[in-house]
Amino acid sequence: MSGAQRLDWISQPVASLHGNVVVPGDKSVSHRSMMLSAIAEGTSHIRGFLEGEDTRATAAVLAQLGVSIEAPSAGERIVRGVGLRGLRGSSQPLDCGNAGTGMRLLTGLLAGQAFDSTLIGDESLSKRPMRRITDPLAKMGAQIDSQDGLPPLHVRGGRSLHGIRYELPVASAQVKSALLLAGLYAEGSTEVIEPHPTRDYTESMLAAFGWPITFSPGYAKLEGGHRLRATDVVVPADFSSSAFFLVAASIVPGSVLRLPAVGLNPRRTGLLEALRLMGADIRIENRGESGGEAVGDLIVHHAPLHGIELPEALVPDMIDEFPALFIAAAVAKGRTIVRGAAELRVKESDRIATMAAGMRALGVSIEETPDGAIIDGGAIGGGAVDSHGDHRIAMSFAAAGLVAQGAITIRDCANVATSFPGFVELANGCGFALSTAR
Ligand code: S3P
Repeated sequence: MSGAQRLDWISQPVASLHGNVVVPGDKSVSHRSMMLSAIAEGTSHIRGFLEGEDTRATAAVLAQLGVSIEAPSAGERIVRGVGLRGLRGSSQPLDCGNAGTGMRLLTGLLAGQAFDSTLIGDESLSKRPMRRITDPLAKMGAQIDSQDGLPPLHVRGGRSLHGIRYELPVASAQVKSALLLAGLYAEGSTEVIEPHPTRDYTESMLAAFGWPITFSPGYAKLEGGHRLRATDVVVPADFSSSAFFLVAASIVPGSVLRLPAVGLNPRRTGLLEALRLMGADIRIENRGESGGEAVGDLIVHHAPLHGIELPEALVPDMIDEFPALFIAAAVAKGRTIVRGAAELRVKESDRIATMAAGMRALGVSIEETPDGAIIDGGAIGGGAVDSHGDHRIAMSFAAAGLVAQGAITIRDCANVATSFPGFVELANGCGFALSTAR
């Protein structure tokens, strides 16, 4: 297990779900708001900051590097930026916890500093591939030692970086962002081309902080030698956290849930489209904008779902939502086929293997493939599954328990706090029957 304390959940079947569910702030935006505020000039005020372990770890790392960060209330941070060259090195390792985003983006940020840094993570993060960032950063002149491509990462300071033009081999916002953050410190221009567009929060937030940048879906280019100006950031609610409720209300008969002011960046909402293709009834009301990001209320009514061949083009736009989609597919009528999603094997756990093992334990028909799965919908039985410390898998099986034939025990759920503190209370507030056992 990866959390400090063993925590299991028991999810029981329920009649229906109702209510308003206010999900916490977006993880991706929270990480970036903290990093850019830290190296900006002046004081930035962040609202809606995710109080999760992942994003708090990023804040703690930046505090360790000399940034003053106040937390006047939950979800609020006042960050006194030290400027591009104002971070101070730490002789202690920088602990990114469970967060791939934290480690990969911070490595980019630290590659051009005058001081050395060592980045470490928990058991899960220590198994995640880092060559995808260390290789291109080395091309920019960085020197980063890893353990055969895995953390800990030792970033050497005092290197002078130069921009590169880099075509990403896999669609990854983390890799793109690491290069752009290193590019702030590089001579010349850093240009990133993606095989499929990924979330563009780093690009849009750099622009909001006053850094000249050119970007369009799948492309970004910036030059070193500018400054970041402190800016206030409003973090929208996290679409990925809303995903469990979209699936839950879709599969439990009689349910209606409203999820207010959720971030609707199109690079994040692939699940919405996938569920609609399966027959889901999800509407968007009160469309607006918050902190430069599209937001809207999601209203989901129960609807009978059917299996689909998931269009591969949707994969990057729903890369974090596959555990939830797999549960929808287990309940849907007919077969669902997922392809082109090999990246799932290098997330907080191997999400194809972990989901397949859990679903099989519940009597669901699922065949694993190297880059996806084939799922035949039907009944979900009661039983015990192991989340392998993967937050999104724990929450997805909690949704499965709502419609299972008996209770589902979900092992190793402490890491839900990395992205979704308060999930159990919020879920029970709209009708889940979720209890915890230590
Ligand atoms: C993220 C990018 C995605 C995603 C992760 C957050 C980000 O990872 O899975 O949860 O904030 O940039 P990849 O870039 O590895 O696809």
